[in-house]
Amino acid sequence: MVESTKSATLTIDGKSYDLPIYSPTAGPDVIDIRKLYAQSGMFTFDPGFTSTASCESDITFIDGAKGELLHRGYPIDQLAEKSHYLEVCYLLLYGELPTAPEMEDFESRVTNHTMVHEQMHNFFRGFRRDAHPMATLVGVVGAMSAFYHDSTDINDLMQREIASVRMIAKLPTIAAMAYKYSIGQPFVYPRNDLDYASNFLHMCFAVPAESYEVNPILARAMDRIFTLHADHEQNASTSTVRLAGSSGANPFACVAAGIACLWGPAHGGANQACLEMLQEIGTVDRIPEFIARAKDKNDPFRLMGFGHRVYKNFDPRATVMKKSADEVLELLGVENNPTLQVAKELERQALNDPYFTEKKLFPNVDFYSGIILEAMGFPTSMFTPIFALSRTVGWISQWKEMIGDSQLKIGRPRQLYTGATRRDYTDVETR
Ligand code: SDX
Repeated sequence: MVESTKSATLTIDGKSYDLPIYSPTAGPDVIDIRKLYAQSGMFTFDPGFTSTASCESDITFIDGAKGELLHRGYPIDQLAEKSHYLEVCYLLLYGELPTAPEMEDFESRVTNHTMVHEQMHNFFRGFRRDAHPMATLVGVVGAMSAFYHDSTDINDLMQREIASVRMIAKLPTIAAMAYKYSIGQPFVYPRNDLDYASNFLHMCFAVPAESYEVNPILARAMDRIFTLHADHEQNASTSTVRLAGSSGANPFACVAAGIACLWGPAHGGANQACLEMLQEIGTVDRIPEFIARAKDKNDPFRLMGFGHRVYKNFDPRATVMKKSADEVLELLGVENNPTLQVAKELERQALNDPYFTEKKLFPNVDFYSGIILEAMGFPTSMFTPIFALSRTVGWISQWKEMIGDSQLKIGRPRQLYTGATRRDYTDVETR
């Protein structure tokens, strides 16, 4: 824990309370209110956690004003350009970029855990074919705790390590199986001769009836999408994983909870919702109609893929994703993709509209990702599962950091109660 160098004084009804202030290596100072209730009998109130730091972490830093995202200090645009997803996984898990031998060892450990227990195939058959793949992912990942008892003891450092590698290795296999099951095709086993992204594409698009060569352009684009989604500080799903982990729940159950939270359209479900919105708009001449709806307080419609709790300038991931969308669609010969044209014109019109600029609303990571994924052949229902498999390393890294904290306490927020005060039960005859 960083040392406090100054304090804040809170005065309530003439009584003063000194609250320590900690200064981070980057970002805002924090006021430590852990003793406030014991000293003052008062809670703080911050639904949505707009002004609350829930933990100390040294994994990912976001500067919302500058549009900066650092993973262990390295800017996301440099990692997206120069690194690759498994190297970013190593960086997030262990804190430093790997040497060549360290990378080779890590890649080998992940590669040798990509298959799932054969018995797990039966879980998929319990779902309807039209089940959303996110429902399948929540169920099957949660069920992993029933198969991997040798990596559920969170107090054993080695078991924490094995569970981490298992989840990074198996989530692509499970996500691909969920996709295959939904389209009635046989599962395709992972192949150890393929890199992480190529293996995922092969498991999704290969069929036993013919050979399938992974397009290296798509593999590079897939790997970059994985990297751009790997971790993002204390977002809703990461906070869910931390809260679940604070009770001592096993890592598979914690990640299943994170997948469930990510599914929401305000969070990871936005990439699916965004592409469906762009397809509903259909042509650029209908854009003003949807912008008007997004600005209408009486209309619940929002521009999906727009806005962010933290970024108040631009989302650096969206900048990289937009460039990748242009590259991939041009290489695939679909640069005139109507959805991409609508997205670019929608962004142009929104960023020239005071409603969005004053509220600091602009494309986030989910705005362009769906366009690339659709061009790669994925149905919209697979967009959030791909976000989930990418974010698994972030969830696991944050979970490991929390579990390794000697000051770990179970998360247990309080409330502002405005319900009925004590009253006595009345028999039904007297009501
Ligand atoms: C992700 O936290 C993370 O880091 C998440 C994430 C990650 O990597 O983990 O970055 C991934 O979840 C990205 C966000 C994906 N969600 C969407 O694209 C859904 C659409 N966006 C919104 O629902 C919204 O912008 C949020 C949820 C992203 C942020 O919500 P906030 O911070 O709670 O902001 P808010 O809802 O209080 O909105 C502030 C104002 C409101 O207007 P007023 O009430 O002040 O008049 O802006 C308006 C909102 O109505 N607004 C929008 C809008 N987003 C906010 N108006 C129209 N369209 C939008 N998209």
